Amino acid sequence: MKKTVLVSGGAGFIGSHVTVELIEAGYDVVVADNFSNCDRTCYEGVKKITGREDLPLEVIDFCDADATKKLFAKYPIDAVIHFAAFKAVGESVAKPLMYYKNNLMSFLNVLEAAQEKGGCNVLFSSSATVYGEPDAVPVTEATPRKPAMSPYGNTKVMCEDILHDAVKASEGKLKGILLRYFNPIGAHPSALIGELPRGVPNNLVPFITQTAIGKRECLNIFGNDYPTPDGTCQRDFIDIVDLARAHVFAVTRMVEGKMKKDVETFNVGTGRPYSVMELLNAFEKVNGVKVPHKFAPRRPGDVTAVWADPTLANTEMGWKATRPIEETLKAAWAWECKLAGK
Ligand code: UD1
Repeated sequence: MKKTVLVSGGAGFIGSHVTVELIEAGYDVVVADNFSNCDRTCYEGVKKITGREDLPLEVIDFCDADATKKLFAKYPIDAVIHFAAFKAVGESVAKPLMYYKNNLMSFLNVLEAAQEKGGCNVLFSSSATVYGEPDAVPVTEATPRKPAMSPYGNTKVMCEDILHDAVKASEGKLKGILLRYFNPIGAHPSALIGELPRGVPNNLVPFITQTAIGKRECLNIFGNDYPTPDGTCQRDFIDIVDLARAHVFAVTRMVEGKMKKDVETFNVGTGRPYSVMELLNAFEKVNGVKVPHKFAPRRPGDVTAVWADPTLANTEMGWKATRPIEETLKAAWAWECKLAGK
């Protein structure tokens, strides 16, 4: 029998790519989204890529506890992947209560509904942000978490703890996996789904592609005086399709009962750091475009360097990042060109 996975926030950037990979791996997927931070482009794109015109879509706000319970009652859900959350670091500093309310309430409602239904496997989308400015790189899952530098980051830390506590008290009804993403970038090779930032992008790659296409005048490189080889920050940029595949491995591990602990944590990164300048240079080279840029002051809250030690995910889950950065940056550019109708 096919297993069913509920993907909250399934119409967003990561959720839509995960939905594609799950369907291609043979899962039934229920996409749930309130479209507060995306439109239907990616949902429609997923249907085209997978040929699943009948892909279930539930328009729901997970802050609504009753609606969440009804949704769990409607489908035979074997696993839930929870993406539905606000994700802009700067906005979270300006509107902390909005972030805590939305990101915590929606996850609490999902856990409560899952437990009341009799149990479920829960995958939570955490972030490398929980490591803060690490004392040593690369970071393993055993690297201590640091106090969060923003309310957004704090919601990730808090949701990790909430999942641990809920699973512990659930008498075996709940099991969970925490995936800590590094920097997801790129787009599906079909150019039918990708990142759709609203307004001015906060993240590096959408800002690069929008500058390259002429939507933005100039890319600011935030800081060139960091203690790194070229002075710019270093990150672990992970291809969105590789990242999405990690979810299939994690879900399969949960539904097939292969977990070694009731809550497991995995880093989802490549293990290879790129500096901001290296990434920009690679983008210009593979796509044959110029990106006007200048150095600007450091951005408050940025860490100098963080990248993953992905050994645990490689060995335990059998997942490994495989897409070369050139392919990832080509896909990001193809998606931007598609959006611009070029
Ligand atoms: C941030 C969040 C992370 C989240 C990720 C994806 C923190 C500290 N970081 O990561 O949790 O998962 O976004 O949403 O909470 N840069 C520029 N110019 C720009 C934009 C970025 O130079 O216009 C630089 C930044 O200074 C940074 C690097 O590019 O050094 C990556 O930035 P960004 O894409 O925003 O990701 P993070 O801040 O690493």
